[in-house]
Amino acid sequence: MTRNIIIDTDPGQDDAVAILLALSSPEVNVLGITAVAGNVPLALTQKNARIVCELAGRPDTLVFAGCDAPLNRPLVTAEHVHGKTGLDGPQLAAPTMPLQDQHAVDWIIETLRAAPANSVTLCPLGPLTNIATAITRAPDIKSAIEEIVLMGGGFFEGGNITPTAEFNIYVDPDAADIVFTSGLPLTVMPLDVTHKALTTKPRIDAFRAMGTEVGHMTAEWTDFFERFDMEKYGSEGAPLHDPCVIAYLIRPDLFTGRHINVEIETKSELTLGMTVADWWRVTDRAPNCTFMGDIDADGFFALLAERLARLG
Ligand code: BDR
Ligand code: CA
Repeated sequence: MTRNIIIDTDPGQDDAVAILLALSSPEVNVLGITAVAGNVPLALTQKNARIVCELAGRPDTLVFAGCDAPLNRPLVTAEHVHGKTGLDGPQLAAPTMPLQDQHAVDWIIETLRAAPANSVTLCPLGPLTNIATAITRAPDIKSAIEEIVLMGGGFFEGGNITPTAEFNIYVDPDAADIVFTSGLPLTVMPLDVTHKALTTKPRIDAFRAMGTEVGHMTAEWTDFFERFDMEKYGSEGAPLHDPCVIAYLIRPDLFTGRHINVEIETKSELTLGMTVADWWRVTDRAPNCTFMGDIDADGFFALLAERLARLG
């Protein structure tokens, strides 16, 4: 059965690959893409989302710009990982497809209000500002949400922007707290999973060997952020975080995790944005999400290669 999804994103090379995976997969129907400030400011993330849709041959995709700053804090960006544009690596032409006029949050609310119960899955790939704003402003939309599957957090792997916080949660911990306490069905792809989805040389070569523009761009993007991550982690490749979210919708069997309680640290200066995961179930706090812990990385990259090859 095809799942209707909304991708909320801050492209980002790995966001870009996630969008390509979604647009090449019949198991998901992308109702629209909502951009949020994160890896780079909003003016660039909305533009990058349109670049990726055009690359996928889908200029008909609805792209909206949302919140340009976290709920209660100044924006923290990650040009040190993704480059000045957010999509550094290959040469990119400016997009010609339009940005929709409506604010992303208004569109999310309108779309969910018009949707049948439990019929739309939200796929946040960046800070949770747009999603938290929508469910706070219009709590009635919750009934239309089948599930939220997001990339964020980390427990055994610690953090990637501070020792204890992962970037997406750290940028807007207040928004993350709203989402994690929303009572909505929640599946989380933390660093514990994505740090196992590494872009090794043979995996990047497989993208390049497609001989298509999408294959070339994907290889160039992953090459670009690999430089930074390999130096940082001393690993054999860089984690391809965000496509894990879309891969889960297509092949949930590639992932394993636990249904546990996860709370967001919103106050401590030292551990702000930490996802405090009760992995060992040592508290009586009620489970609020499925927190993934492992991935079949070969299966994941095989899926990516097979799907991206479908695009031109
Ligand atoms: C997350 O932060 C961003 O840099 C990536 O796009 C991903 O969503 C990983 O921490
Ligand atoms: Ca992202």
